[in-house]
Amino acid sequence: MNLNIPEISYSSVGTGPVIVLIHGFPDSGAIWETISDDLCKAFTLIIPDLPGTGATPMQGEVTIDDMARGIDLILEKEGVNKVVLAGHSMGGYVALAFARLFPERVAGLSLVHSTAAADDEEKKQARLKVIEIIRKGGRETFIRQMTQNLFSDSYRNLHVADVVAKVEAGLKVDENSLIAFYKAMIGRDDNVDMISKVAFPVQWIAGIDDNIINYKKTLRDCHQSNINFVTLYSNCGHISMIENPVKLAADLHQFGEYCFNLYRNIE
Ligand code: MLT
Repeated sequence: MNLNIPEISYSSVGTGPVIVLIHGFPDSGAIWETISDDLCKAFTLIIPDLPGTGATPMQGEVTIDDMARGIDLILEKEGVNKVVLAGHSMGGYVALAFARLFPERVAGLSLVHSTAAADDEEKKQARLKVIEIIRKGGRETFIRQMTQNLFSDSYRNLHVADVVAKVEAGLKVDENSLIAFYKAMIGRDDNVDMISKVAFPVQWIAGIDDNIINYKKTLRDCHQSNINFVTLYSNCGHISMIENPVKLAADLHQFGEYCFNLYRNIE
């Protein structure tokens, strides 16, 4: 098989066991800035910019599995063996693919507003429509509209500057990269079966006001894995790293400690 393994730029901060923080769509590693100062006191944080974002150029069409292989390449370079992965939304899809491809490397998996299920037909069709809109020059309108949708109503109304900054961040991702991500998400594998068989702990973080991943779905899905941490965030939509970073940092901290302690006791 001819593998397409993208070269992914990343930053590494802190000391201690490694947590890989994988951003969602249409972000870059910068989205984790709100929690990294706190988390890096106890963990080494590896923070990639997926292809077409931040410091990583677009490298043609990449699949979710390709991006997971790119993350494995980073860990090879860094000489890291076992990690906890935290993936936000699309980053969660990459983290799940990583866990399927490289299970021996995973001490724990945190799904931050994400799902193990593949897109259903309705979702695929909706994404194809968005691709058409972007192709016809609608990139900016799409980014502005989807960004509004990321926040809970209450947060959006009270924190207009954060919404504006998020729109600006989204607009840094060019048309081709947006389309490449949407194609990658349409084509991703379902990981529900995989997640039901893994031995490592899984964290499920859901916002009660999330318009993209409904928290009720997360509550149903979280029974799929064997060792679960489940946290519901009130007054929070799809983006707790902006809407509630203090709680997110604390939850990831607790989960990371649990996973690495468990791993040490098993080894
Ligand atoms: C994301 O936040 O990464 C995306 O909205 C995920 C998705 O569209 O499935």
